[in-house]
Amino acid sequence: MNERPALSPELNRDEIEARAQFCRGLLASAGSIAMEGFRQMEAGAPIEIKGPQDFITEYDARVETHIREHLAEAFPGDGFLGEETGAQFAPRLWVVDPIDGTANFARAIPHFAVSIAFVENNRILFGGLHNPALDETYFAQVGKGACRNGRPIRAAATKQLDRASVELGWSSRIDNTVYLDRLARLLDLGTNVRRASSGALAIAYVADGRSDAYAELHINAWDCLAGLLLAREAGAIANDYLAGEGLYTGNPILVAAPGIADAVSRATSIPLASPLR
Ligand code: IPD
Ligand code: CA
Repeated sequence: MNERPALSPELNRDEIEARAQFCRGLLASAGSIAMEGFRQMEAGAPIEIKGPQDFITEYDARVETHIREHLAEAFPGDGFLGEETGAQFAPRLWVVDPIDGTANFARAIPHFAVSIAFVENNRILFGGLHNPALDETYFAQVGKGACRNGRPIRAAATKQLDRASVELGWSSRIDNTVYLDRLARLLDLGTNVRRASSGALAIAYVADGRSDAYAELHINAWDCLAGLLLAREAGAIANDYLAGEGLYTGNPILVAAPGIADAVSRATSIPLASPLR
């Protein structure tokens, strides 16, 4: 059942609203479970490794299973794509990262988040992130703006590159030499470049004006879809992440404050969506 699904009739407003409300509740309950795990990490619980620099804890699977089981019960016809438990593709799809920033979580650094997005016919309708360690919840619905803890957020008005702060993410999925080239180009522009090890939160921070851009040359849908909608709804500019097979196999991601988006796009060689959105 994992071939690419055909399009389905669109949900009506009430059906979308019911799912969005459910999503808010799930972010909270999943965040509580993640927080229980975080306390154990602070106490020195063991960490395992899936691959080089790719960490996993008992709580990644535990949080995802909680979300998956509750969604299956509430919306049995919807599909599911999760980082830890795999995919059951359908035209209506919940895309879940139970703990993004696992490397931080595992070392008891309070910069991680549960991320949930809902996609219908390859279009993100709503999405949210919850960092229980800071009690911060981001949520966006298409056409309705983006919020942190219920308050509207906007991308930064930064225009000067020598004041801009850009986050660059990377993984072993792309050769180091390519990242080093993009890093050099961003530094040559005069931007500050940092990495805080949660792609999901990095994108939300662009939406929130805490950072001016996020770029990564390959990222999976569970890491970035909720953030991508937040960023667009908050006035940031992005690439067309869902083009081609993005939902299924990942794509590059770029989200940026409008005043520096062109320059960062050229430096990273990630084209912005056309028309801009
Ligand atoms: C990773 C983080 C990281 C990004 C990687 C992701 P994980 O997810 O978001 O910042 O650079 O591409 O795989 O392992 O923390 O869930
Ligand atoms: Ca992740």
